[in-house]
Amino acid sequence: MPQINGGTKICGIFGYPVEHSFSPSMHNAAFEHLSMNWAYVPFPVRSPDLPAAVESVRALGLAGVNVTVPHKQAVAGLVDELSPAAKLSGAVNTVINREGLLAGHNTDGEGFVRALREEAGLEAASAPVLIIGAGGAARAVAVALALSGAPAVFVTNRTEKRAVGLCRLLSDGTGCETAVVEWPCETEQMGEKRYLWEDVLNSVGLVVQTTSIGMSPDFDSAPPFPFHLLGRGHTVVDLVYNPSHTAFMKRCRAAGARVFNGAGMLLHQGAIAFELWTGRKAPLEVMRRALKEGIGN
Ligand code: ATR
Repeated sequence: MPQINGGTKICGIFGYPVEHSFSPSMHNAAFEHLSMNWAYVPFPVRSPDLPAAVESVRALGLAGVNVTVPHKQAVAGLVDELSPAAKLSGAVNTVINREGLLAGHNTDGEGFVRALREEAGLEAASAPVLIIGAGGAARAVAVALALSGAPAVFVTNRTEKRAVGLCRLLSDGTGCETAVVEWPCETEQMGEKRYLWEDVLNSVGLVVQTTSIGMSPDFDSAPPFPFHLLGRGHTVVDLVYNPSHTAFMKRCRAAGARVFNGAGMLLHQGAIAFELWTGRKAPLEVMRRALKEGIGN
């Protein structure tokens, strides 16, 4: 525990519920490691209280906050300025207080791109991408990939109109080439879809699973997918990190693809937020250890 005194800088996280967040242990471990007089506090904030909570960042002189479910979109309308990724995705997960001016960022997407580079050795700009899902997580990742130069983004989603909306947002906002792909059915029943999916998977290098399917306790579920069309040239990231190996990851790995879970994105979104608030390089391995202990418990 840090010694709280007159010089302690405070940051934290707004969400509801927020008690399960791994961010406090990750950031407080980093502050302790660097002997910084900072503390990171979880704040349970209900939706009606959000405007007052955001105002309190200014009033109480907090250094900044992370924002999580269900507030990421609402906070985008409550801060003074937005980063390009936050503006385009319409979601903020990190607020910085610069002497009373509140700037909203989206380090989820940037964290994904950095994890891709540092954990998987893959540049966002190196190959077209397939995104499974079209919700908030898909939007953050797809926007960051498009802004980082991904040559094309394919989107498939159970509810097709949300995939259409995400593709439109990407092509209008970044000029990135996009296409909606029909939601896959079980491999054996693919019929005509087989040729479509062969084309898509021949052209993409990265597949990102952004839905909540397979998340604990739903261990055995995976989205329908033509797993047999995957191979060694594919890198697959499942944004789920609990369990650390989802049923989707297992099937992709069995087909020959390289697979990663969502822990890298979680770690790097935290590292980028840390750097934005403190101006210091994040102690990545310390944060990784704290996160691993949290997820393990
Ligand atoms: P998040 O912010 O975590 O992305 P979200 O915005 O509610 O959450 O989006 C959830 C995503 O998971 C959506 O793409 C959703 O598909 P729909 O748009 O069709 O609802 C997808 N999803 C969740 N459960 C699903 C399921 N059982 N089968 C297929 N897709 C699912």
